[in-house]
Amino acid sequence: MNHSYGGRFAGRTALVTGGGSGIGAALTGALAAAGADVRCADIDVAAAERVVGAIDGPGKAVAVALDVTDAEAVRAAVDDIVAESGSIDLIFNNAGIFIGGETQLLTLEQWNRIIDINLRGVVHGVHAAYPHMIAARGGHIVNTASAAGLMASGLLTSYCATKFAVVGLSDALRSEAVGHGIGVTVVCPSAVETPILDSGKVGSFPGRSFLLGAEKSTRAYPPDRLAAEILAAVAANRSRVVVPRRTRIGWYLNRIAPRVIERRLNAYVREQVAASRAND
Ligand SMILES: NC(=O)c1ccc[n+]([C@@H]2O[C@H](COP(=O)([O-])OP(=O)(O)OC[C@H]3O[C@@H](n4cnc5c(N)ncnc54)[C@H](O)[C@@H]3O)[C@@H](O)[C@H]2O)c1
Repeated sequence: MNHSYGGRFAGRTALVTGGGSGIGAALTGALAAAGADVRCADIDVAAAERVVGAIDGPGKAVAVALDVTDAEAVRAAVDDIVAESGSIDLIFNNAGIFIGGETQLLTLEQWNRIIDINLRGVVHGVHAAYPHMIAARGGHIVNTASAAGLMASGLLTSYCATKFAVVGLSDALRSEAVGHGIGVTVVCPSAVETPILDSGKVGSFPGRSFLLGAEKSTRAYPPDRLAAEILAAVAANRSRVVVPRRTRIGWYLNRIAPRVIERRLNAYVREQVAASRAND
């Protein structure tokens, strides 16, 4: 897919966290293709280098080693962009991990880790970039949450907790940032075809099939398509990206008929717990 987005990204500076894989890698590629100057940041710098190595412009992409749980390192990565280019125009707080399984099996270390990466990582990005954007009277902050940040589900408690927080942070900030000429967009997809779908299992939780089965989907969303939709949403200054369409419908039903959805979800979670225990 090759979009110009009305020239909105040409020559703009962008930081993408978790850029070494999945959605972040697709965002890095889409931004560079639209002419942006991108820092592709990841805790796995070799992965970020592979992503950057596959990019052929017209924008530039540079790999950066960055752990989003390290507030000072996030600040330094943002300050570097401002020192070199004069401004940070876009930040994509996208790095994240997944943990799924029965809540009583989660360790406190797992709870703290997912909060540190998925929530504090976003806070660190906002805290570092927002003041520069205020000074420049413009910019756009994009936070990757999840459909699990709009609709809660058993077996995803720690993940939902962090993603609901990211949606709340983003919506709250959006109403304040507009006064400074700054946009905020929160990204809420259901299952996207990335390595995260096969990670983070606690016990015999069947991550990929649980997430797909919750929406009766057979295929996860393509990350390149999502990245193009995110950039289109930024160009149009939309508050949310909720995909695919069946997720938007589910989210709507969740608000108008919460009891019906709750009964369906309870039955699904019960069935999934029984199936995963049978595999133990
Ligand atoms: N794939 C999905 O189904 C899906 C759905 C909804 C939301 N999301 C969200 O999208 C975001 C990106 O996930 P993805 O699906 O591309 O997964 P992914 O595993 O493909 O990519 C995540 C990247 O984040 C990096 N990362 C992990 N911890 C980090 C840290 N402390 N500092 C910096 N980088 C770190 C990883 O090295 C990896 O490259 C996450 O926030 C995830 O929760 C994913």
